[in-house]
Amino acid sequence: MNPPQVIPTHVTIIMDGNGRWARERGKDRIYGHFEGVESVRAVVEAATEWGIRYLSFFAFSEENWGRPAAEVEGLMQLMLESMRKELPTFRAHGTRFVVLGNRGRLSAKLNATIDDIMAQTADGEALTMILFISYSGKWDILQAARRMAEAGGDTLEPYLVTAGIPDPDLLIRTSGEKRLSNYLLWQTAYTEFVFTDTLWPDFRKEQFRSALEEYASRDRRFGKIK
Ligand code: FPP
Repeated sequence: MNPPQVIPTHVTIIMDGNGRWARERGKDRIYGHFEGVESVRAVVEAATEWGIRYLSFFAFSEENWGRPAAEVEGLMQLMLESMRKELPTFRAHGTRFVVLGNRGRLSAKLNATIDDIMAQTADGEALTMILFISYSGKWDILQAARRMAEAGGDTLEPYLVTAGIPDPDLLIRTSGEKRLSNYLLWQTAYTEFVFTDTLWPDFRKEQFRSALEEYASRDRRFGKIK
């Protein structure tokens, strides 16, 4: 497979459709999340191969806490196990692993694992892989505004959880939904959006490449004229 013609600096993905993918197969929703992790792995591998610098995923929203306890626990356990399992690959590929979100809501065990993996990959210089967990855009803006006021500052960016990370060039959302769902509200001001009907567990390297081809055809003007 040839690399895409244009390589964005930061690609962010709203992974959607795991539940429907599982239901179509008469299986439990968590089975779709398991298969979704395989898609994350495939997309991270492709991003590393193509030289993408930042790849982020909306893994769990603040609103997702409202799902049935069994699904929430299953997802937390899956994230914990997946990040542990991927650590050797992260280290081998120079991947810096970062988790952003309302960490205070996560279990002590998950937070300890996240801290450990972030510390062990902090020197990664190839791809920065970001998982947004217990994240919402409105929460981020509010916590940033509070901290900015406390510090007497007058610009918000340094207080957003994404401080130091370039805004996404491209946002991909799978499964046919066409909305932002309280994700990166501030940071997507000039982001290009690509929506695909593919359900997340079916989104692999080929589908990722197609989304990047669509991005390459966009004319980004940032409000100016060319
Ligand atoms: C959306 O599908 C998906 C999620 C809410 C969770 C996605 C999280 C992962 C795949 C875990 C990734 C973690 C690591 C560490 C690699 P949905 O449940 O909303 O599906 P539906 O729209 O069909 O109901």
